[in-house]
Amino acid sequence: MTELSAKIPKKILFVDDEENILRSLKRLFIDEDFEVFTASSGMEGLDILEDNHDIGIIVSDQRMPEMSGVEFLERSQRVVPDALRMVLTGYADVTAAVDAINRGGALRYIAKPWKDEELVQTIKDAFHRYSLLQENKRLTNVIKEQNREIRKWNKELEFYVQKQTVEIQNNNKELKRLNERLKSNFKHTIHAFSNLLELRTEDAGSHSRNVAEISVKIARQMGLDAKETEAITIAALLHDIGKIGIPDRLLFKGLEDMSSDELNIYKLHPVRGQTAVDAIDDLRDAGRLIRHHHESYNGKGFPDGLKGDAIPLGAQIISAADFADRTIRKCSEDNPVEYVIKKLTDAIGKRFDLRLLKYIEEPVRGLYSRSLPKQHMVELEIQPDDLKEGMVTAKEVKSGTGLLLLGKDMKLNGKSIQILKRYYQIDPPKTGVFVWVNR
Ligand SMILES: [Fe+2]
Ligand SMILES: [Fe+2]
Repeated sequence: MTELSAKIPKKILFVDDEENILRSLKRLFIDEDFEVFTASSGMEGLDILEDNHDIGIIVSDQRMPEMSGVEFLERSQRVVPDALRMVLTGYADVTAAVDAINRGGALRYIAKPWKDEELVQTIKDAFHRYSLLQENKRLTNVIKEQNREIRKWNKELEFYVQKQTVEIQNNNKELKRLNERLKSNFKHTIHAFSNLLELRTEDAGSHSRNVAEISVKIARQMGLDAKETEAITIAALLHDIGKIGIPDRLLFKGLEDMSSDELNIYKLHPVRGQTAVDAIDDLRDAGRLIRHHHESYNGKGFPDGLKGDAIPLGAQIISAADFADRTIRKCSEDNPVEYVIKKLTDAIGKRFDLRLLKYIEEPVRGLYSRSLPKQHMVELEIQPDDLKEGMVTAKEVKSGTGLLLLGKDMKLNGKSIQILKRYYQIDPPKTGVFVWVNR
């Protein structure tokens, strides 16, 4: 950066062909704070200026042999354009004075003979003016230089900001990708847990998934937000995870056949389920729903005997879906769907809130009407490579070691076909996949 202040040298050049005049001028400024240069001709004056570009004041006689004062002043402008010029001339020489001002760029003329005091003051005033102009010029240059630097910094800044923006965008993309991957892994883990749960008892096959399917449909119809719906999905898939600690004999018993001790053990499963997932922060909301999936609207449920709206809505939804799926599994009626709807209706006000009824009917019909006998269709066993999107499974598909891969009456999509093919490589089922085809 240029400095903001600078000392301006006080230099003055007198040009006159008469040595005695030069001497008297020198004498006049001997006590003044000026460095005085003298030249006895225009040529000598120009030479001095060539070597001293910082001379600020030039005073020249007009009448000189070889080169006149006007000519010298005119030529001096090319060497020291900023210097202030003055001409010394006799009273009568008005033309020369006008010429000196117009052509020689002179600031003014000084009449001969001059008064010493006046001349010194005139030179001092001229220098003051010169120093102001120089300071002005210097400051203008400082501003120009600063502007140049600011422009340079702006460009660098712009470049830096662009670079940073690209880096941030790339980082964001990578974070988003990792986040999506984490989310997808999380979902797969929940499904894997749910599969393990269904594996625990043969007749629980697809129970968790059915409860999840119905619950999600109810949640969507009720307009719950994405976060609540996700918690409901997870809680529905894992709602009976606490049953893992329950003795096998209880899993195959109906509640009405259990002794009071057995019933007490059975009633532990919602709390155990919540405890099992509580260590995972992202599952805390779902854990709360798991805890309350056996509460009843009339307060006669367990584990906490919550009543009415004190029961979290998600838990009420899962409870209704769970009730529907358990009821249809035990049902031997000709029309199980109507039977379930009737049972649900009967339980309104006792187990469930009335407002749930209008939301549950459609998901229940949608899920279980797929399971109704298909008179015009037959089962066909096909190999995984022949599976097509849109086909519907006619039997559950289990891996070679008995893991439930897909429930009965499930519509195949690209993802499920891919998963099935993978299992046929790592844990091959003993048969092909059974699907429904038209007679
Ligand atoms: Fe349960
Ligand atoms: Fe259940």
